[in-house]
Amino acid sequence: MTYLLALDQGTSSSRSIVFDEGGQVVAQAQQELPQIYPQPGWVEHDPMEIWRGQLATAQEAIAKAGLAVGDIQALGITNQRETTVIWNRKTGRPIHHAIVWQDRRGEPTCARLREQGHAQLIQSRTGLLIDSYFSATKIQWLLEHVPGAREQAKRGELAFGTIDSWLLWQLTGGALHATDVTNASRTMLFNVHRNEWDAELLALLDVPVELMPKVLPSSAVYGETVPALLGGSIMIGGVAGDQQSALFGQACFDAGMAKNTYGTGCFMLMHTGSKFQTSSNGLLTTSAAQTGPRTEFATEGSVFVGGAVVQWLRDGLRAIKGSGEVQGLAESVPDSGGVMVVPAFTGLGAPYWKPDARGTITGLTRGTTLAHIARASLESIAYQSAALLQAMSRDAVAAGAAPVSELRVDGGACVNDLLMQFQADLLGIPVVRPAVTETTALGAAYLAGLARGVYKDTDELSKLWKSERRFIPTLDRARAGELMAGWEHAVRQATAA
Ligand code: G3P
Repeated sequence: MTYLLALDQGTSSSRSIVFDEGGQVVAQAQQELPQIYPQPGWVEHDPMEIWRGQLATAQEAIAKAGLAVGDIQALGITNQRETTVIWNRKTGRPIHHAIVWQDRRGEPTCARLREQGHAQLIQSRTGLLIDSYFSATKIQWLLEHVPGAREQAKRGELAFGTIDSWLLWQLTGGALHATDVTNASRTMLFNVHRNEWDAELLALLDVPVELMPKVLPSSAVYGETVPALLGGSIMIGGVAGDQQSALFGQACFDAGMAKNTYGTGCFMLMHTGSKFQTSSNGLLTTSAAQTGPRTEFATEGSVFVGGAVVQWLRDGLRAIKGSGEVQGLAESVPDSGGVMVVPAFTGLGAPYWKPDARGTITGLTRGTTLAHIARASLESIAYQSAALLQAMSRDAVAAGAAPVSELRVDGGACVNDLLMQFQADLLGIPVVRPAVTETTALGAAYLAGLARGVYKDTDELSKLWKSERRFIPTLDRARAGELMAGWEHAVRQATAA
């Protein structure tokens, strides 16, 4: 049997999973990652803690699988994207905590860039809308606020990386400073057409090119792990940002194939093939995982508050004791009784882009109960995702392609049958849950396996993908239209203030 190891370094935890070559989970290990909140709107991680936790889970997963390191053919890395680390090349020490993707401290710089009229240039080169979500303004902040950093960077003494680069550096004992195209495409400094750092954008953001990692395809021979770390060396063959890795793990390799990951937030990506196209509906264009030099693209939209609405029901409203109770409570009523919950706790993202929107509940009557609010909260995850998919389909049709014909799902909340059925009913297309829902880690394992020759091509991977359940829409389309119109009405209330 052949085995592959995936390291999945996420925002709230570090995980490692050993897969067999059929894509089945053999063993896994996980550690929580502490969050650091220095002031409102700022979020940081300790890079050394990330590395130690990630390494410990890799060691534990191999031990649990009962494998010798020689049984593992290759290792793949997938990671929270955009999060920015700068470290000293000589000492290997970070110059500051990592600035996490959720951190908003780069916003004043972004506002300036928008005012100066750079939006079009940035979107045409990177596919992105100007936002402090991406790495560029985080790098700039570090260079400006850590004493001496800019001079050191210019002298080539520092290295920038997203979390994949940081792990690659550590795993190879400082031999490799690299990233892959998917992670590079989230920096706002990467020319996604040419697959290289964009000199004009680096100059605009005042980022010295000496800081930047080498960029490779997502499936490539990256290097070998230092033998002492995992009891022997393993070839590193795959790297991809977590959302693109999940798209790959869902075997969405062709234009029009889409996945939605239902986590704390939701991330929906649709593969759009090898041609770059920007969205007219507020979505991002991003590099999809590439197995060679050919460019591959996806459009992406995210829901800021997805599964987090269930945490709010639990911790804010105290309507349930544990997240698992939400389905039971929601199912205790036949529908939401006309209640709509718009969980715009931190504003609304794509396709609305209303940062000032706030959470709103509409349609309350004397008969409304907590069960109706729980049901409406759960449904809000599906409404927000449906609005994203509709925007993607509008873009696809405008580009002369077919609208999305099915949605593959993964992430914690995809186990909720009520939610998945409602999602299918709203969308009017099947929602398909795969047999292996660990698609983020699986994508990284597949990318590594391809580089190692465990798999011949993506056709072989498509055959490994199996559905566990298809949720077929049963709702009358006119009724689905009314429900979506009701949702859009509630969104207007949330954004009216
Ligand atoms: O863009 C941010 C995303 O990559 C984070 O994903 O799963 O670590 O929250 P996650």
